[in-house]
Amino acid sequence: MLCLGVETSCDETGVALVSEHGLLGQRLASQEAVHAVFGGVVPEIASREHLRVLPLIYRELLRETGTRSADLGAVAVARGPGLLGSLLVGVSFAKALCLSLDAPLVGVNHLWAHLLAPGLEGEMTFPALGLLVSGGHTNTYFIESPLDFRPLGRTLDDAAGEVFDKVAKALNLPYPGGRLVDRLAGRAEPDRDMFPRAYIDNASLDFSFSGLKTAVIQHLSGRQGLRFEGLRLEGLDSVLDDPPVDLARVCASFNWSVVDTLRIKVERALRACAGARSLVVAGGVAANSMLRRAMAELAADHGLILSLPGPDLCTDNAAMIAHAGRLILGFGRRHGLDLEAVPRGRAVPEDWVRES
Ligand code: KG4
Ligand code: ZN
Repeated sequence: MLCLGVETSCDETGVALVSEHGLLGQRLASQEAVHAVFGGVVPEIASREHLRVLPLIYRELLRETGTRSADLGAVAVARGPGLLGSLLVGVSFAKALCLSLDAPLVGVNHLWAHLLAPGLEGEMTFPALGLLVSGGHTNTYFIESPLDFRPLGRTLDDAAGEVFDKVAKALNLPYPGGRLVDRLAGRAEPDRDMFPRAYIDNASLDFSFSGLKTAVIQHLSGRQGLRFEGLRLEGLDSVLDDPPVDLARVCASFNWSVVDTLRIKVERALRACAGARSLVVAGGVAANSMLRRAMAELAADHGLILSLPGPDLCTDNAAMIAHAGRLILGFGRRHGLDLEAVPRGRAVPEDWVRES
């Protein structure tokens, strides 16, 4: 069964086609350049861009893959959490297609889709311990099956990706700067005493990153030489390849503090709920080089299978939405045309209806 995935939860507009043979094709239109000048995503601009781009990339995808709308067996759409105006564009588009084609609609939890994404690249093993690290979330789950996620820990303040982006902003780098900080960090050894690993001296599975963010920003504010003054986007590559050593060390030390905090909390979650056979790490920050190495080591130490999507599958995309949609349909679940979008901060309900 051919399933179209639609992703518009933040600043990436995506469409993808997934069948029983895997990913047939996808189109992703990034709004990064549109928002970079504002230092963050501007919700109203994001919605308008989705509205403009979505029908165009859908048509391109059909053309590229030699598919007709009538071939679609189902439409899966990211229904939250995300920016409400952005989600409404994708959900309305998906509903219109389902209405005209009389095809089933499936609303997908964007966070679960991230954690199920490795299934596009190989078999996943359940139960799994899931770590989701993205721009808006830092969560751990005990995942019994693709339909059964038990929340364990979450961030009490900033998400890991948000802190990467804020540190990048303090360095005067464009938004979203996580992968730029990652590149800079690769140019030096971390000083493990430079920054704190916040909220680890307790028994909690929750995370807190705002103290680390403040520590890094304060460290930078007293040292003008550690900022990219007036840097233009075009000049970025050469500076990132050969940065001042002090600046690279700040990035490496900050990156290490985030990664080691995540390691400690994942190990604690593994102890708290035994039985996991695999470790899944997903979301934009799962593209981080240091985190990938640390999680590979952790999985090996605990005898767990590691499911870590390739970097392109870590950041927002529609392939993961189509894949999660197919899994949900495989369990005989779908949604009606009254499907609601769910904004950030609200739990996504498990309000599927049974396939009739
Ligand atoms: O999952 P995602 O694409 O969007 C959300 O659902 O939030 O995650 C985006 C986040 C951004 O904060 C971005 O800076 C961060 O992932 N990110 C990284 C890296 N690549 C993307 N953070 C650290 N290292 C990276 N290599
Ligand atoms: Zn995401």
